[in-house]
Order: sequence, then structure tokens, then C-alpha cells
Amino acid sequence: MQIPPWPRADEREAELLRMVLDSPQWGGFHPFVAEFEQSFAAYQHSRHGIGAMNGSVTLSLALEVLGIGPGDEVIVPAISFITTATAVSRAGAMPVFVDIEADSYNIDPSRVREAVTSKTKAVIPVHFGGVISDVRALLEICREHDLTLLEDAAHAHGAEYDGKRAGSFGLAASFSFQNGKVLTAGEGGMLVTSDDRFAERARSIANCGRVPGRSFYEHHELGTNFRLSAMQAAILLAQFERLPDQIRQREANLRLFNDLVGDVKEIVWQLQPPAQTQNPHYLVTGRVDRQARDEFCRRLAAAGVPVTPFYPHTLYQNPVYRREECRVMPCPVAETRIHDSFWLGHRVFLAPQETIQEIASVVRTCGAGC
Ligand SMILES: Cc1ncc(COP(=O)(O)O)c(C=O)c1O
Repeated sequence: MQIPPWPRADEREAELLRMVLDSPQWGGFHPFVAEFEQSFAAYQHSRHGIGAMNGSVTLSLALEVLGIGPGDEVIVPAISFITTATAVSRAGAMPVFVDIEADSYNIDPSRVREAVTSKTKAVIPVHFGGVISDVRALLEICREHDLTLLEDAAHAHGAEYDGKRAGSFGLAASFSFQNGKVLTAGEGGMLVTSDDRFAERARSIANCGRVPGRSFYEHHELGTNFRLSAMQAAILLAQFERLPDQIRQREANLRLFNDLVGDVKEIVWQLQPPAQTQNPHYLVTGRVDRQARDEFCRRLAAAGVPVTPFYPHTLYQNPVYRREECRVMPCPVAETRIHDSFWLGHRVFLAPQETIQEIASVVRTCGAGC
């Protein structure tokens, strides 16, 4: 099967990297960094972008700017990558794990409402696989209880809901450019926000407490160095030129794929809200009978379709949360999804249409056997 590898680069990355190598600035002060920050933030409908070395430190940075720490609680989904929760714990606050919705795989607003206490300061939804969370309901809860909505948009480059992009719903949003993401430099991250004061503080903390227009050796915040390097920015600028076309290609391939497999009743695919106007399809997630999931994945893999049998744990089932303080709300959906779900990565849907047809045929055959 002609499934393209990921990540992939061509002469454009080499050209921009050459420009960095030929310059006297290989670090975060090369103009490519500011250019990428501005272009990507604008693409996500936000005024400011603060580049950083990965999408975990951006979560920590956001919590620091919000002043979240000991005695505070932050509500997170039970299903995500671990740093959504560990960023909260590392800030000294307590993650509160809440169940996901059965079909969207995103944090369930009604469960969020039940988890709010007088200690709650923020909610961190994850737009799972590129599907936007129920931001309307979440924003309403945040307004009612004076909470901050901080989006973990690590899966959601280009994701759009009602014409607005991920990152423009909460006070700020954290993106990752780690190796597997739809926009990557191997490692990298960015915080986006349209709040001027938030941006100013985040930028200063991420840049050793410096303040624009003041001396290089004058430091105003208890900051550190989270800067994105010029090499990362060069690669990201090149990758970013291709992102809109790649999203269009995945959306077209997903329409074809859904036409070909949508009637296989043994497989239930992740649902996106009707208001979603663009989906980057970072992960194409589905589920089968839990007894059949592992065999289904083995058969797909044997036929050459790269498939991942979901996260092996809810976040709170990880060994770290047997030790670290946390609060766990009942999460029956999350505890089921880890056993019945699987995902196909975004590179699968960058394959030519004939390959999509082949994959659909394999999925049909394996799905019918579940
Ligand atoms: C939902 C989510 N949040 C945060 C991160 C952390 O990003 P990074 O790997 O860039 O530190 C990831 C990355 O895999 C992620 O998937």
C-alpha cells in the first residue's frame, strides 16, 4: 500500500535550513521564529503566538501565567496524552479527571459541571484527534463559575468550529509540533492567545523575563528559556506551507473512506459536531466490540494498514497517578474506550485515492469479522 511516511521533507525545508545555517543566529532570535509565530497564530485566529520547545512546556507556561498552583484544581479529560495532566501536577495544582463523551471522545461538559468546586480554576479540553470539544457548553460553565478555558490544541492545527479555529475559544491554547503531529519540526510548541496581557507575560517568562525594548540583560519576570530555535522555525515554516493542502486532501479522502465503510455496522467512528467546519484529521478514531479490538488491529496491521489500539490507560490509571494527588470523577466511558477503540494516523489519509479504496476494503473485511 502506498501510505506515505511521516514526517516528510523536501527541498523547501533544506532551503530554509540553509538560510539559518548561513546566518549568525541559529537560536530563537532569528526572524523565522517571529515569522512563524505570527503566521501560525493568525492561522488559528489568534493575535499572538509564543513559540516554545514543545507542547508540554507551553501547557506549563500557560498555567504559570494564570497563577495556578497549590490549592487549585484544574479539570482535565480522562483521555489525553499525559502532559495535559502532569502540567497541572507540576504546577502544584490538582488535576481532576472527568469522563469523555461516548461519541466525540472529548471531555463531557455535563461531567465537567459536576466536578467544579470552589477550588476549580480552569478547564483544559483536548480537541481529540482534531474534533473540537463542545466549546459552547464549556464556555458557559466557565462563565458561570469564573473559570479559565485553556485549550490543549495539540491535535487541532487548523481545526475549525463555526468558522472559528482551535485556539480562539479559550483564553489561550497550547499546540504541539512533535514528530507525529500534522505540523512538525520533530519537537516544538506554541501558545496562542488574543489576550495582550497574557501574551506579554507568557513571552517574557519564556524568554528569561526579558521585556521588549529593554536591555538584553534586564530581567523582569522569574522566567526561563523555553524558546523555539531557528532550525525548528525553518522546518515549521516549510511544513506550514503544505498544511492547508494536506488538510484538504485528508478531508477529501475521509469523505471517500466514509462512503466506502460508513455502512459497516460493527465499527462506530468518532463523531464530529455538526458545527465543525474543518477537521485536520490528526487521528481517525473508531471502535469495535471490545473482545474483537485487538484481533481487528492485528488483522489491519497484517494487511499493511498502520493502526494504533488506542491509549492503554486512562490518564489516572498511569502509575504516576497512583502516587500523585488527583481527584477522579466516575469515568465509565473512558474506561470502556481504552478497550474498544483504535485510531488510524493522519498519514494514512495522505495516501492516493486508490490506496484509500484498498484500505477501506481491508477495514470492511476486518470490521465485518468483529
Ligand atoms: C493532547 C496532547 N497534549 C500535549 C502534548 C504534548 O506535546 P509535546 O509532545 O510537544 O510536548 C501532546 C503530544 O503528544 C498531546 O497529544
